[in-house]
Amino acid sequence: MSSPADHPEVTVVVLAAGKGTRMRSQLPKVLHQIAGESLLGHVLATVERMEIPRAIAIVGHGANLVRASLPAWVSTVEQREQLGTGHAVQQVVPALADFDGDVLILSGDVPLLSAETLTAMRSAHRDAGAALTLLTTELSNPTGYGRIVRESGIVQGIVEQKDASAAQREITEINAGVYLADWSKLKAALATLSNSNAQGEYYLTDTVARLVDQGEVVIGYVTPDPTEVSGINTRAELVALAAEYQKRRADYWLAQGVTIESPSTTWIGPRVSIGEDTVIEQGVALYGMTRIGAESRVGAFSRLQNVELGNHVEIRQSDLEDSRVDEGTTIGPFARLRGGADLGRNVRIGNFVEVKGSRFGDGAKAAHLAYLGDATIGSKANIGAGTITCNYDGTRKHPTTIGDGAFIGSNSTLVAPLTIGSHAYTAAGSTIVSDVPEGALALGRAKQAVKEGWALQRKGITK
Ligand code: UD1
Ligand code: CA
Repeated sequence: MSSPADHPEVTVVVLAAGKGTRMRSQLPKVLHQIAGESLLGHVLATVERMEIPRAIAIVGHGANLVRASLPAWVSTVEQREQLGTGHAVQQVVPALADFDGDVLILSGDVPLLSAETLTAMRSAHRDAGAALTLLTTELSNPTGYGRIVRESGIVQGIVEQKDASAAQREITEINAGVYLADWSKLKAALATLSNSNAQGEYYLTDTVARLVDQGEVVIGYVTPDPTEVSGINTRAELVALAAEYQKRRADYWLAQGVTIESPSTTWIGPRVSIGEDTVIEQGVALYGMTRIGAESRVGAFSRLQNVELGNHVEIRQSDLEDSRVDEGTTIGPFARLRGGADLGRNVRIGNFVEVKGSRFGDGAKAAHLAYLGDATIGSKANIGAGTITCNYDGTRKHPTTIGDGAFIGSNSTLVAPLTIGSHAYTAAGSTIVSDVPEGALALGRAKQAVKEGWALQRKGITK
């Protein structure tokens, strides 16, 4: 039987204050992206998967940009000067004044670390009754990393590359920079840190020897997969790790019954979900909170960002953002859902159709060349080619409502605000400026004039 004492509450602390000088970028390192998600976003997606409800990001360089990127459930603490990883964690002491659970310390620039590894580490931590558990791995080339110093297999401390003796530099077990610790014990150890070392920094890693000296249990949990704990310091490392991420995500979805036709050209963000028997063609990007149902197809070179698709949806080479699409609907090629599109079942959005902030009822169609903005379109309505909702008067946006079964003739110009009743028709080429009642026909075009013989006369041809 487990008691609450066996399962202390966990707060995540993410180190994200560093500049990332070697990226040579105006953007803080943790905001560089893999598969449409910032490096920090990848770390937070892992935290969400572990169902840990509380996280604090330590921000510094580009603090405002980093803060703006965060979801509401993540709070921030600012580290104004980067005086070392120990100093960074000291900054959360006021925010966690009354907290007496465990803290899980992660780095914002280590995007591939999996929830499975962290969960296994957490079990090892509990089983050992440890005050602190370090995530470690074996590297054939450990240069640059902190080395794990053990005696008879028991962790004694971490020594940084720059402070290590020649003998210590031979150690191949390295500190991954991920820690799970009893917060009150770690907090006490943090208070004793000094910066008398090769880098003049307050090292978080020095808390290890401190806790060991106090007779606390400190263990190293060794992960066999160094790639998971790889950090990013350069753009070359960013793209190399991105390629590795891409391969792992594709393998994951293939195992879930999703066909990823071309893994090396497909990007699937960490928060995306895809149903069985869906096919993802080459060059597709699935970003953000995109959710795709079963037996759907996302055609080559489509991009979906925060899009919810039902089952049996078919998309051909289109760009979709912040939208929802129900079962059986087909989109594209070359369509754009620009945000706030809400498409019902069996809707048809064809080539060169742009939809923004609009609801389409079941079975409605806009098969070619149209702009529908701020519109509510009834079920089975037919929107002809060239239809434009004139929703913007230069100052304000206005709505258009089109009833069930309405027929909007080709090249209709619908000047909003406007309501077209159900089953009404607008004649092709009309400019419609006032409401059309249910079942009516509205004609809004100049009457055609025909001048017999005019053209022949002009060319001087006589018959
Ligand atoms: C750190 C560890 C090292 C480990 C390595 C793993 C220390 C002293 N050393 O070294 O043992 O092998 O990580 O990658 O901790 N950061 C701040 N504020 C600071 C300093 C750093 O937020 O004042 C952040 C950085 O942005 C980064 C993380 O902490 O996300 C690690 O800092 P970094 O300087 O890269 O530490 P390393 O020297 O790599
Ligand atoms: Ca570093």
